[in-house]
Order: sequence, then C-alpha cells, then structure tokens
Amino acid sequence: MMSGPVFFDKVERLLRELVQSEGSFPEDLGNLIAVRDLFGRVRFVLEKRPDNDLREDLQKFAEKVQEKLGPRAYPPEQAFLYRSELASDVASELDTAREIAAGPPRLLFLDRQVTGLGWATTPSQQPSKAHRIAFFSLKGGVGRSTSVAAAAWHLAKDGRNVLVLDLDLEAPGLSSSLLPADKMPEFGIVDWFVEDAVGQGEAVLEYMVGTSPLAQDLEGQIWVAPSHGANPGDYLAKLGRCYLDLPQTNGDSHEPWEKRLVRLIEELEKRKEKEAHVVLIDVRAGLTDLSSVPVTDLGADVLLFAFDTDQTWVGYALLFEHWRRTEAIRALRERLQVVAAMVPECDPSKYLEDFRERAWNLFSKHAYDEVPPESSEANGEDDLFTYDLADESAPHVPVPIYWHRGLTSLRNLHTLDDHLVSASYGKFLEVINRLVEAGTEDSS
Ligand SMILES: Nc1ncnc2c1ncn2[C@@H]1O[C@H](COP(=O)(O)OP(=O)(O)O)[C@@H](O)[C@H]1O
Ligand SMILES: [Mg+2]
Repeated sequence: MMSGPVFFDKVERLLRELVQSEGSFPEDLGNLIAVRDLFGRVRFVLEKRPDNDLREDLQKFAEKVQEKLGPRAYPPEQAFLYRSELASDVASELDTAREIAAGPPRLLFLDRQVTGLGWATTPSQQPSKAHRIAFFSLKGGVGRSTSVAAAAWHLAKDGRNVLVLDLDLEAPGLSSSLLPADKMPEFGIVDWFVEDAVGQGEAVLEYMVGTSPLAQDLEGQIWVAPSHGANPGDYLAKLGRCYLDLPQTNGDSHEPWEKRLVRLIEELEKRKEKEAHVVLIDVRAGLTDLSSVPVTDLGADVLLFAFDTDQTWVGYALLFEHWRRTEAIRALRERLQVVAAMVPECDPSKYLEDFRERAWNLFSKHAYDEVPPESSEANGEDDLFTYDLADESAPHVPVPIYWHRGLTSLRNLHTLDDHLVSASYGKFLEVINRLVEAGTEDSS
C-alpha cells in the first residue's frame, strides 16, 4: 500500500518504531543518535565506525529508514556519521540529544534549529549569586516592562540593588523609560554582541550600564543594561548580528549564541562594587530563541504574563507542548508563575476565576504530573508535581496586576507614584518579595 508523505511531526514516532522493530543490532552498539538537520532530514550518528560484519546490517537499516521516511531521510550511503570522526564542536552538540527510546539500542534525538536549540535546552544549574527573574509574554502591550520597573523600584526601596536587562531587543522600550538621555551609557546589549564576536566584549562591558533616576532617593540602586547605547549607531545592522553562534577557532570551542548570552549576564552580574542582588530581565515577546534563553537557561524564576483570551492560551499551549515534549518542563515548572496582566475594572474576581481555570487547564495538561487513580494512599505521591485548581500556592494561580487609568499614559518611568503602584501592583509585589526572599534562603 502506498503511504502518503511523512510530515515533520511524524518523524520521531516512526524512528522509534523502526529501531524497536529492528532485530539485528548487537547489544553493544551503543547510542544511536538520530539528527534532524535544518531542512528536517534525518541521519544517524554512532560512536565509532563499526566492524565489517555490522556494516551490512546498518546499510539495510538505512534502506528501511529511507523507505519509511522518504525525503525526510538521508540516502542510505550518507545515513551514518561517526562521532569519533566529527569536529569537536559538532560532536559536543550531540550531548544535547534527548532519549526517545530506551533500547537497546538506545535511541536519542537531536533537533538542529537555525539559531541554537533554544526552547529545548535543559536549564543549566549554574549557581548565580543574584536572584534572576525573567518577565515573559507572548505579545507586547501587556504592561510587562512597566511591571519590571515597578518591581525594580519596590526592591530598591527595600535596600536591594537591582540590575535590569532590556532584552526585548526587537522592541526596546524599557531602556529609555528607565534612563533619561543623559543617563544612557555609551553602549547597549547589541554592541556587546557585535564586539564579543571579534573578542572585544570586555571593552564595552564597562560602559553599558546606566543608573536609573527611579531609585534616586531609595536605599538600593537600579542599574539598567539597555538594548542600545546613548548613540545607538546602526542599531538594525547590529541587531541582525546578535544571534550568531561563534565558530570554533584556534583554542576556542564553538559557542552557541545562547551560551554567549548567559556569559554576558554573568559578566554583568559580577561587576566590581556594583554587584546586583536581583536581576530583572525584560525578555523579548513571543516564541523566539531570544526569549527562550532567559526562560530556560538562566535558572531564573519566570513570570508568564497573560490576558485571559483564547489566543493567549493557544499560544501558551504551543510553548508548553514543546517544553513537555523536550522534557524541559520538568526543570522549569517549579520556577513558573502566571501573572494576570491588566485585570479589567469590571468584575475582577470573576475575571480572575475564569483565568485561573484556563491556566489550570494548561498546567494540568502539560506541566503537572498526572496522579494515577490508585496512588491516593502510599507510593510516592509526594514526588508528584501537581496542584488542584483551588490550591492558592500553585503556579497556575494568577497573580493580578490591576488595570489602572493612571498607568495608561505614563511618558516614562523615571519616577513612580507610591499610591498608583500599590493600587495596581500590591499583590504582585508581594510575590516578588516572596521569590527574592526564597532565593536568598536557598543560597545561604
Ligand atoms: N496596569 C496597567 N494599567 C493600565 N495601563 C498600563 C498598566 N501597565 C502598563 N500600562 C500601559 O500600557 C502600555 C504598555 O505597557 P508596557 O509596560 O510597555 O507593556 P509591554 O512591555 O508588555 O509591551 C503603556 O502605555 C503603559 O503605560
Ligand atoms: Mg515591553
């Protein structure tokens, strides 16, 4: 029977089936890594070139794979690569492959995307002295940047030094809201990327943080690393060069751009005499690699800003589905918190109730563990990560930020009004406190 074309999303399951039904692999074959390239074609990597007796079996296997996957597979004669023969930067990328069948042979899958592996990487558990909080939303206009400012202001009032990163590079806004022209540093984050690419990152690092007047009379400081500097120059030309992996050069290994971003943040956190206690990161909106790194790789708490609309929940489902598939969700879910942005004035409790239900649907489908029906007594229920709809401490329970007329037309965030902030952000700032204090306890 003719089977139709194999579409992108079918590949993983077919590979699993092919490997499981393959009887001729020896026990000691080792890991079989399926690599899907940028065009979505699959080939395999083995540890080393096999002995002659195995070659024929592998060839047959490759023919079966091609029969099944059609143009989604490499031709049999190009179907196998050997790790021991690959350049070291390519080989090290293989370490990020994830298991899709226990085997034997154990089958791993590596999805190569255009800019790094972004959303799929497992968070690095790099201990950072500063507590990091990432502010994420699917779209702009939800009041995310304003809430970064409110949080920074609140923490600085408490005597904490706060570093704010404007990583919303495609729509930089926070930088100029927090820094008047005369406080803008010479360079921005895009400058660091283009200079770092030629080994000159150090030279701009000193001149890319400004001090915000928002904390003028407060005990703590608010430092801002803006996306662009005082004289932005050709911002777009630089922006287009931000997301580059650094190739392997003499002595230096290949460095994916997400690692570079992590390195930048670490460098900024370490500045002498200006050490930040808390780092707030205004992330790019939407499902892109630039937003994924702070969310997945920084060990940051992640605030997910949302309106209660269908498009919001559909978008978040796409994201959570990916996290679940790649198992990133396991490490992430303990750091997520949903925020209800601009809660409307009319009937806010009904709004928040409906919101909570939809957020719970999302989390219980993709992020919470399923509770097996018979496990209500003993066996390891403590280990399950799961929350009831009504559980107030759950990450799906929205932290409200109330819509407030007084916030609709702020020209900048060089000052904030106490009354206004507490009316809109009261509950939200309590949560910020809780996160930061929990972080301080963890690290002491
Ligand atoms: N709680 C709020 N109530 C009413 N308007 C708000 C609120 N928070 C922010 N705004 C206004 O909404 C607009 C977008 O806010 P901004 O923080 O820039 O959003 P984002 O960073 O999500 O794009 C701004 O004009 C801001 O003054
Ligand atoms: Mg913004």
